[in-house]
Amino acid sequence: MGTGIFSKRSELPGELHPLALLREERLKARLPVFDWSHGNPTTANLPWPPASIPPLFAKNSWLAYEPSPLGLASAREALVRHLALEGLDVPARDAVLVASSSEAYANLFKIFCNPGDNVLVPSPSYPLFDELARWEGIELRPYRLGFAGEWHLDVESVRAVCNERTRAILVVSPNNPTGSCLTVAELHELAAFGLPIIADEVFAKAPRSVLGNADIPKARAGRGRPVSFENALCISTSPSDDLGRFPVSQHPPRSVLGNADAPKASAGRGRNTRRISTSRSDDLGRFPVSQHPPSGKRIRTLSARDVLHAHPHVVLDGLSKRLALPQVKCGWMLLGGPASFCSELRSRLEFALDAQLSLGAPVSHALGELLAHEDLARDALARRIESSEAALREAFSGTTVSVLPREAGWSAVLRVPCDDDSVLAIRLLDAYGIYVLPGALFGFSSPGVLVVSLLTAPLDVPQAARSLLACLESA
Ligand SMILES: Cc1ncc(COP(=O)(O)O)c(C=O)c1O
Repeated sequence: MGTGIFSKRSELPGELHPLALLREERLKARLPVFDWSHGNPTTANLPWPPASIPPLFAKNSWLAYEPSPLGLASAREALVRHLALEGLDVPARDAVLVASSSEAYANLFKIFCNPGDNVLVPSPSYPLFDELARWEGIELRPYRLGFAGEWHLDVESVRAVCNERTRAILVVSPNNPTGSCLTVAELHELAAFGLPIIADEVFAKAPRSVLGNADIPKARAGRGRPVSFENALCISTSPSDDLGRFPVSQHPPRSVLGNADAPKASAGRGRNTRRISTSRSDDLGRFPVSQHPPSGKRIRTLSARDVLHAHPHVVLDGLSKRLALPQVKCGWMLLGGPASFCSELRSRLEFALDAQLSLGAPVSHALGELLAHEDLARDALARRIESSEAALREAFSGTTVSVLPREAGWSAVLRVPCDDDSVLAIRLLDAYGIYVLPGALFGFSSPGVLVVSLLTAPLDVPQAARSLLACLESA
């Protein structure tokens, strides 16, 4: 059937990125794929969730259907009671429940933007924003986060991309994949643009990095050899596995892999038109003297400190990362700023969400009990992430690979000596069966960046690291 009857925005990506293609081929051929980008906490062999977690169909009353577009009143109250224990003072009327942050984004983009309007997004950051924006017919204009020993906001780049069709500024703090948080001063600089701020804080309660700064590359890498990954948690050789297709909540969709910013040698078709508008600075290293990294106080949650109390903003969070339960599908928006803004936004959200009613009754009823388990989830995550990060730093200590400093989150950014990280990722998969995500995918403008998951079992890290070093050495 011809494609003329379908909309442009639902057009399928033409072809897979060569990295995704290779992964599919390997899986079909039953060759091992060690997924070092693995971001699914439910298959990471964590001591979580515990038996004490409430089964979602435990009580008949939890199946009661009471359509409530903003979320069940009892669930919203349970949420704000939990947030109050963290020092967040949010009235239940300003807490709106959704099934996922993607659903929150879709509705906020619809409510703040007309088709053709734009939203400013950080770069590098979470690649799914491109897809979410495309579905809403809006443009994303990336502003730059720069790195100079620590990450900082390049406020000049915000100025450069902001125009009369800009409707909101999105911040991700802690950011994925850099794990960096904004400073209070940076947030004020963004607020000064006078636009609503959408603050993605899904990693705000993620364990903090307990380790110090990046290793300074010293010696040349030793030659390694292909590995078997006896301990691997995420090897898959099953052709029926859908791994090459990047489950939406954890991995970038395949069209994002065809990032237009990706180096030419990666032949993926670039549907993604995100560009860094300023060429003044490199996100890892060379940046103008005027753009010093900040030394200000870094914030973990916007609402906690009332940093934006007088400024229109929405904070996004949810169980997906807080409780490492992406499968139960429950997130929330906390509306903040002037009362008139919150009230208008609440009414519009109620109107929009009434047509969707996507949050399930069982999770709504169980929300309070689920949140009571948050400390256990955080402990399980902290233990895994800390040991995986320590193993990573040890494995690359004194080598040509640096592990960038990070504050929080589930990923680590590796600085590697290569001109094209997509090509390197393809070689690593082809020769060693190791799947990592190239930095180009997240919008890193400098080549030589790989992103790896800290949910990886620490026992698997040394072998994976040796393979990467060998791959670099053999280039
Ligand atoms: C920055 C960021 N926001 C949101 C999400 C997804 O959250 P949810 O599962 O609630 O859609 C992710 C997933 O990795 C993420 O990295």
